[in-house]
Amino acid sequence: MKKTIFPALAGLLLAMSAHAVEPKTTPRETALKNGQKSAQFCRHCHGVGGSSMRGDTPNLAGQNEAYLLAQMEKFATGKRKNEFMEGLIKALTPEEHKNIALYFSQQAVTVQPAANTQQAAAGKKLYESLCINCHGANAYGTEKIPRLASQQPAYLKDSLTRYRNGTGERIDPLMQAYTRNLKDADIANLAAYLASMR
Ligand code: HEC
Ligand code: HEC
Repeated sequence: MKKTIFPALAGLLLAMSAHAVEPKTTPRETALKNGQKSAQFCRHCHGVGGSSMRGDTPNLAGQNEAYLLAQMEKFATGKRKNEFMEGLIKALTPEEHKNIALYFSQQAVTVQPAANTQQAAAGKKLYESLCINCHGANAYGTEKIPRLASQQPAYLKDSLTRYRNGTGERIDPLMQAYTRNLKDADIANLAAYLASMR
């Protein structure tokens, strides 16, 4: 008798314990969900899920989380200048910034700009001699250093030109040092190469 009841009882106990642990959501899942909600408005420019379809507007999809958060903090404190982005980021709470950064970092880039292969080949050489140490061989960056692979080419060009020229929209001593000697053509080649990377 015992022998036949035991497996049934064990099965029942197992089912009960599985039921007891199942429905909880982790804090990370909650943060992701909230981030997705707070990021609804961003798609008007940055595209659905952060894959931009506008050359002058960066992809946020697949960008490194700590970098995204740091840039939002720069907009919020006026260290990075863009009137619209400054106003928008200031209107969100620090908690929302964190959740949004987590959400976009977990999305895959789906829209990839077409490559200019001739420029890209010249850009690759420059990238490998000047940029690879920080931004990495695949241009995925690190925690605090931005991903550049498959970024929008016009946005890359604008950003590099701003660092080089010290226009004040974006100030970063490291990037200023590494762009100082670049010609406009070098910047165009680098942008073509990075945009073509997957
Ligand atoms: C009206 C268009 C528009 C909307 C809406 C918008 N952005 Fe932006 N965003 C831009 C543009 C343009 C830039 C590039 C600014 C520059 O470098 O001058 C930018 C830059 C950024 C950057 C810097 C990315 C990088 O690679 O350094 C972050 C982060 C960002 N936006 C987050 C957001 C978030 C979060 C939202 C929604 C809450 C949002 N943006 C909504 C236009 C927009
Ligand atoms: C010593 C490390 C280092 C080197 C070398 C370096 N970078 Fe950077 N790069 C950074 C850091 C840090 C940032 C973030 C700066 C900021 O907050 O504005 C950055 C930002 C950028 C951005 C802005 C990305 C975005 O999403 O807005 C571009 C584009 C870029 N780098 C391209 C390059 C290129 C091209 C080279 C080579 C010519 C290069 N970098 C060399 C560290 C480096």
